[in-house]
Amino acid sequence: MQNASPENSHIQAGTELGLIFLIGFMGCGKTTLGRKLASRLGYMFMDLDHIFEAQKGMTIAEYFAKYGEAAFRKMESEVLQKHTYPEHAVIATGGGLPCFYDNMEWMNAHGKTFYIKLSPKTLADRLQSEKDERPLLREHQGEALVQFIAGKLAEREPFYNKASIIANGLSLTAEKVEGLLSFKATF
Ligand code: S3P
Repeated sequence: MQNASPENSHIQAGTELGLIFLIGFMGCGKTTLGRKLASRLGYMFMDLDHIFEAQKGMTIAEYFAKYGEAAFRKMESEVLQKHTYPEHAVIATGGGLPCFYDNMEWMNAHGKTFYIKLSPKTLADRLQSEKDERPLLREHQGEALVQFIAGKLAEREPFYNKASIIANGLSLTAEKVEGLLSFKATF
């Protein structure tokens, strides 16, 4: 019999992973990895930012501009906690969601949380070209963007660190995520 380890474990038939919440800073790869993981597991993929936008009939950037961040945080928490989920799903969450209300506790009570961890520099490099869609990042460029991300990450990590699993996001693949989840599920 093979020993279970993150490298060699593979979800066995009948292993139920339920809801898997991917958490982490903007740009860490929640959506890209989430889609691949869901397809490997045969689970539904859901993106809470998209669910929010569909429910409110506007983009998050528009919602921020119209109602402000405090209203957005309240609504995103409601979207998370009131949504009807299938039995199994991979769910990408917004970068700030774990840090408001009791969202982290709620996710840990309803599924597994997986923190995709990356350095401020790597995040800034990834976000440079797509930061216009993200209201919190718009005004920051170059080194100021790295510094802004470092500050926000320091505020957010106490919440992210409550995740069931924390993994380095550099060269993280859906296969590795599956292995880590499966390994954890054996304990
Ligand atoms: C936010 C992250 C965004 C989105 C909103 C706020 C944040 O989601 O929810 O712009 O506070 O970090 P992504 O992490 O999916 O970009």
